[in-house]
Parts: sequence; structure tokens; C-alpha cells
Amino acid sequence: MKHSLQAAVAALAITGFGAVATAETVVDDKALNALDQGGNWLGYGRTSAEQRYSPLDQITAANVAKLGVAWSLDLPTDRSLTATPLVVDGVMYFNGSYNVVHAVDVRTHQKLWTYDPKSIEHAGDRATIMWDWNRGIAFWKGHVYVATVDGRLISVDAKTGKEVWSVETIDPKNPLFISGAPRVFRDKVLIGNGGTEWGPARGYVTAYDAATGKQAWRFYTVPGNPADGFEDETQAMAAKTWTGEWWKHGGGGTVWHGMTYDAEFNRVYIGTGNGSPWNQKMRSPGGGDNLFLCSVVALDADTGKYVWHYQTTPGETWDYNSNMDIVLADLKIDGKPVKAMLHAPKNGFFYVIDRSTGKLISAEKFGKVDWAEYVDLKTGRPLERKGARYEDGEELVWPGPFGVHNWPAMSFNPDTGLVYIPSIEMAGMFSDKYTKPKAWESPTFKFDPGVDFLREDGPADWGASFLRAWDPIKQKKIWEVPLPGVWNAGTLTTRGNLVMQGRADGVLAAYAADSGKVLWEAPLGLGISAPPITYEVDGKQYIAQLVGWGGSMTATGGSMAAQHGWAYGAQPRRLVVFALDGKATLPPMPGKAFAKPLQAPEFTVYPELAERGSHVWSQSCGMCHGPAGTAGGNAPDLRASPVLLDEKALHAIVFDGALKARGMPQFKNINKDDLEAVRHFIRREARKQNLTP
Ligand code: HEC
Repeated sequence: MKHSLQAAVAALAITGFGAVATAETVVDDKALNALDQGGNWLGYGRTSAEQRYSPLDQITAANVAKLGVAWSLDLPTDRSLTATPLVVDGVMYFNGSYNVVHAVDVRTHQKLWTYDPKSIEHAGDRATIMWDWNRGIAFWKGHVYVATVDGRLISVDAKTGKEVWSVETIDPKNPLFISGAPRVFRDKVLIGNGGTEWGPARGYVTAYDAATGKQAWRFYTVPGNPADGFEDETQAMAAKTWTGEWWKHGGGGTVWHGMTYDAEFNRVYIGTGNGSPWNQKMRSPGGGDNLFLCSVVALDADTGKYVWHYQTTPGETWDYNSNMDIVLADLKIDGKPVKAMLHAPKNGFFYVIDRSTGKLISAEKFGKVDWAEYVDLKTGRPLERKGARYEDGEELVWPGPFGVHNWPAMSFNPDTGLVYIPSIEMAGMFSDKYTKPKAWESPTFKFDPGVDFLREDGPADWGASFLRAWDPIKQKKIWEVPLPGVWNAGTLTTRGNLVMQGRADGVLAAYAADSGKVLWEAPLGLGISAPPITYEVDGKQYIAQLVGWGGSMTATGGSMAAQHGWAYGAQPRRLVVFALDGKATLPPMPGKAFAKPLQAPEFTVYPELAERGSHVWSQSCGMCHGPAGTAGGNAPDLRASPVLLDEKALHAIVFDGALKARGMPQFKNINKDDLEAVRHFIRREARKQNLTP
């Protein structure tokens, strides 16, 4: 009774009957910076400081065992769900596959609207390099901001779901895409992009006017061709750290994830990407630090002008980008208050930086790392070990390109003083024996990071994963729990002494934030790749979780990803919301599904063709269908597809784009012989011993 009355009032408020509408939250800097957000979750990392810490404390370590499903919503048109939902005044907003935005009434559990930016249609040639997932949206003064994979930034009216403005943020000729969430501050929307593996890429971020979409400023993270003149003295300064003709390969440094607004200093901090290509021998053959690759750069929020930078991996050559989240925290170090920034990039060091000056305070390894011995606190530079740069052509290095921490968010709990980091333990074999640095040329719209790329599937247990609680002041691990596989989701922490995290095995788990004790687990029947959030409405606290296996590991992880049984299209995607004493039941989930490779004895495999096919595959198909045809769930496993045995059907799909609308791109840059070679490669792989259970 009570519930339906509230629902009716909420519905009236949404349809615009002013008389009964409750006060609306004006989402601006003040609201985004407030710890108390009135039960809402207003920004990607909740507050601008991006701590993912909620002061809500009805659900606690003492009662979390009573958490049950309150309601759920199936999402039949979505595939990968990696986004952080926002909750504003009783409405949840989130983006699913291909940037489709959903608005859901959290009281009635009904969809209010869906906005489809038609990303695949807009993508053109870039469809061949774009995945379906995105990590989130932004909200500012009655508008939702979504950045599309094909590179647009769009303002949507939060009440109606109607488009207000749309701008192109990338040149369609460039092999770039967007997978990250925009950030908002001072009536501006900030967005970067990703790429660097598919052709020459020069990183940048752009700020747009939130009301009109007009460009306010742009900052390039690496210098362009000196012959064209530098944009300003910052670019000229950065150019001194490069050698050779880096601009031909773009240089890299794309800003595809971490961006944080600091209201106290009116600055934005951007985390910059790896080199384009990864291999420094090709990008900047005479060495150099290559600014501003793999750095945190502080920019003036109003003008985009450079303030300071700290580079985590000078002269990067391993894909050790610094795109991971940037968390602001006020710490007390040696008895003195410090305006700190916490950053745990791929390279495996946990950095505490004084954000007023950009000076490094401390840096320690938070996982298995052997590319460097330590970071010298005087110079702020790592001491690299000999061989780590695969000087002789090949070297096994810890970590590999997935890093010790990837984009799944860490969270910081000011009560415990700990940071909760989803971390990975996995080495990488870096080699350029076959790629031949001297002869290498940057391709376009083909995967080629300038190192010999894996053209074979690895073992399912190649990597391991842990949830680690890290003390940023002592720079020391306080507790850790082992996690399944390698690809586990971002974390949430609360005043109720809780840490919550979804896992690769489809379980949402709650831990005691101080001790790491497992307090509650809910199997949701599909790998989880999005971080949970919490909100309060009508006096009750909820936990919301998007369930939909997604992210680069699910596309390129091979058996490491396939081992969990989340084959393409096998399990429905959904939003699940929990509350204390929740009694709802979830619609049933089908069980795990594993590909059964077709043996096709009538097909004769020619070894030379199969070998040629493996190269075509790794440049054009493996980024979605898995490194050697073992798919991790983001696309069908082609070893098991009858289409590969039917030349005509295969041509219709690959050359004519028969499945384009479903995310299987049309390829104009490969020919019939290449595709025939792919068929031989796939048959060869199908007949190898199947590594997945
Ligand atoms: C950007 C991601 C992506 C890339 C790159 C990609 N695919 Fe696909 N592919 C998909 C998706 C997603 C589907 C499933 C579409 C659907 O739901 O029908 C698919 C489906 C297919 C199918 C149909 C399989 C079946 O049994 O229905 C074939 C064949 C195929 N892809 C071949 C290729 C080949 C060959 C390449 C490389 C030249 C390639 N794909 C590259 C994403 C991709």
C-alpha cells in the first residue's frame, strides 16, 4: 500500500505535475562534491573525488548476511555491462551495449525511457575496432551525458530521454573510439578516447560547454609534428623528450579512462595512456621519457592549461598506461595533513602524490612486478631491471599488458583508511623478434602494437587475481582474498564497514572492510564486470549491480575468459537490486556454456595457409573472437561456428556486413585469400586439444 502510493507520487513528479513533485536535486559541483548526496549516487565515482565510498550505513558488516534480491530488470538488448549506474531522485540511469542509455524508476522498476545513439550506424570503418561496452555516463543540471564508441559526446534531457546536442569528438579517419565515462565540472563536460593499437593515435582530452556542446578547450597529451608548429610551450617542452619521427605513429597517450576533478584546486587530473605503438624502439628509437605518456597530468579546469605532471613509466614500452582511476583523499602523513592523490596504474606501483604540487610522496609495489626494482623518491623515477625492455628481442616481464590493476575501479574508505584494489597477477612475453623494429610501419584499422602478438591461446590459469586492501600511508597490504580467474570487477565501500565486488564467476560478494572476512555471497549466474553502487530511497538502502560479462579480457582473454562458461549469447543480461530482507526471486539463469569446436574431417588444413591466416586473424578478428578462436564471451567462438565451413555465408557476413547491426563489422580491408587463410587457421585451432572444460 505504502509502496504503491509512493510510486504514484513519483510517477506524477516525473510526468511534471509540479504541485506534488519533491525538491529536485540540482546536480552541480556542490552536489557532486558532497559526501551526503541525499541517498543519490550522482557521479561515476560517486563524488568528484572518486572514492566510491558511501556514507549510507543501514547495510553493515553485522547485517549484510540478510541481504536479498529486492527487484531486478532483464536487459535483453544488452551484452557487455561495465557501467557505474547513477541514481538521481528515484531514477537510475545507466548505459548498456553500444551506449544505449536506460532510465529506470527505482520505485516502480519500470523503464522511463531508452536513448539509442545508434553507434554502429555512425561508426563507419571504425566498427572494425569497436567493442560494445562503456563504463558510464555523467549527470549535470537535468542532463545525462553519454560518450559513444564511435566518438560522439551527446547531451540527453534526463526527463524525456531526448537528445539536446551531439558533437563529434574524434576525426572519423583516426582509429580511435570511446569506452570511458565523461566527467562534468563548472558547466563543462570532459571526454578523451582510446585507440593506439589500431594505427597512429595522438592522445587528447576535450572540454565542451555542458549547455551548448561548444568546445571550451583541448589538451594534447603528446606533441605533434614539430614542422607544423607546437600548440604551446608545454608541447615544445614535451617534444624534447622524444626522438625519431614519433608523430608518424601518433605517439599515443590516449585518455580513455581516469579523469578526476579537484574542486579545491579547480584542476582536472587526467591519466594518460601507453605509447602508439607500445614498442619504444619503433616509436622513439633514440629513447627519451616520451612525455606525457603513462602520466598523471594536472590541468587548469577552466583553460585546460598544463599545471604539473608525474610520469609513472618513463619511456614506456609495455602498454603500462596510467589510465587507471585517480582518487583524491586527505591523508595524515608523518603527522601532517596532505592533499593526496592515490593512483594504482598497470605498472604495479601504488603511488601517493601530493596533489597541490605533483610531488611524489611514496610508491610501492602492490603485486607481482619485475620490470623495475623500486621508485627513487628523490627523482620520482623507477629503477628498471636489465632486460625488461626486451633489448635482446624477447623477455618475460611482470606484469603483462593487462597490468596489476586495470580499469575495474578501486575504492577508498576513510573510516578504515584502506584502498580496495581489484588486482591481477600475470606476466607478459614481450618480443619484437618477428615484428622487426626497423622495418615496422604503422597500420590503420588493424591491431598491431609493435610487439609480436600472441597468435595462440594461453592456458586458462595463465593469470591469477586478488582483492587487495592497501594502506596508502604505510604503503602496505593489510589483507587480500584470492579471486576466480583474472577479470574481476570494481569495488564499492561503505560506512557500514563493507567492501562489495562482483566476480568473474558471477558472484557478488560482501567483505568486512577492516578484515577482509567474507560476509555474504550471491551467485547471479553470469560473470560480473561492473562495479556495484548503493543508494537510498524512501528511507531504505539498496545495492545495485549490473550483470553482464564485458571488458577487454572477455574479448581477448581466450581460455582465461572462456573458462567461466559465459559463452556469447548464452545467458541473459540484467540489473539486480538488493536490500535487507529482500525476498524477490530472480528469473532462472541457464547454466554455464562452453563452445564445442567442430572437427569437420572433410576439411583439409594447409599448414602454410593456416599460418598466414593466424596473422590476418590477430590483426582483424582476434580482438573480439579471441586470440586463437577461443572466444571469451564477447563474440561467438568461431571454432564452433558452421559459418566457417560455408564460404558463401562467411563472405556475406565478413564482406557484405550481413550481421553489421549486431556488432559483427563489415571488412573492406581484407581480401578473399586472407579470409580463406582464416578458415584454415580456425580449423587448425578447432582440432587442437580444447583447453576449456
Ligand atoms: C568488433 C568485434 C568483432 C570483430 C573485430 C570481428 N567480429 Fe565477427 N562477430 C562479432 C560479433 C559480436 C558477432 C555476433 C553477431 C551476432 O550476434 O549475430 C560476430 C559474428 C561472426 C560470425 C558469425 C558466427 C555465427 O556462427 O553466427 C562470423 C563468421 C564472424 N563473426 C567472423 C569474423 C571474422 C572472420 C573476423 C575477422 C576478419 C571477425 N568476425 C571480426 C564481432 C566481431
